[in-house]
Amino acid sequence: MNLARRAMNAPALAAVYEHAWRPALFYLASGRTTGEDRRDAVETLRLGGPERVLDLACGPGNFTRHLSEHLTGDGYAVGLDYSAPMLARAATDNAGPRVGYLRGDARMLPFADGTFDAVCCFGALYLIPDPIAATREMIRVLAPGGRIAITTSYREPTLFGRAATVAAGLSGLRLFDRDTFPVLFATAGLTEIDQRVHRFMQYVEATKNPTSATS
Ligand SMILES: C[S@@+](CC[C@H](N)C(=O)[O-])C[C@H]1O[C@@H](n2cnc3c(N)ncnc32)[C@H](O)[C@@H]1O
Repeated sequence: MNLARRAMNAPALAAVYEHAWRPALFYLASGRTTGEDRRDAVETLRLGGPERVLDLACGPGNFTRHLSEHLTGDGYAVGLDYSAPMLARAATDNAGPRVGYLRGDARMLPFADGTFDAVCCFGALYLIPDPIAATREMIRVLAPGGRIAITTSYREPTLFGRAATVAAGLSGLRLFDRDTFPVLFATAGLTEIDQRVHRFMQYVEATKNPTSATS
């Protein structure tokens, strides 16, 4: 297991992740606050009704509960992560009437095709050993007409970007170019694809075709 994955399994990191680690590191990497990221997530996933939401690699549930608070009726949010310490924090710090947490691997989701109206994965695809498989799984479990959103790393197409890729790789982190996710989404038949780059991070959102087959 590499350094980055080991860190995500450390109870000490899980304890400080939501209120110290994430706000500081993501602000440095993207210039954005957690509040801004949360507002964007609710808006781009188009929450506000009885949606079924999957927050993949949810960490301590720092987005999952927030997303659930924007749902109504039978709406619910499921947070899935492989790290037991992160999930323990989620259960303690981010429980709620519309939230559930599950241990699992993003590369093999234990859900039927088309289970969710909205699927997101924030700040994790650069840690997952096969991020493309995980993204395909997100698309598979998304219902026709559903919304998908990811936040992940971004590397510039420059010498600095290439050097940063090598340096990040040493600690087990992956940096993605501008095309990887928009092209993957387009190839899977998703529409309304939009990408925003903030310093070293990118936000990509899209819609699954309402008339597509579920997988
Ligand atoms: C940096 S945290 C992100 C937490 C939260 N989504 C956020 O944006 O703050 C990354 C999470 O990805 C999880 N993760 C990494 N690989 C995973 C995998 N293969 N399956 C499920 N979760 C994974 C880690 O356990 C960790 O909790």
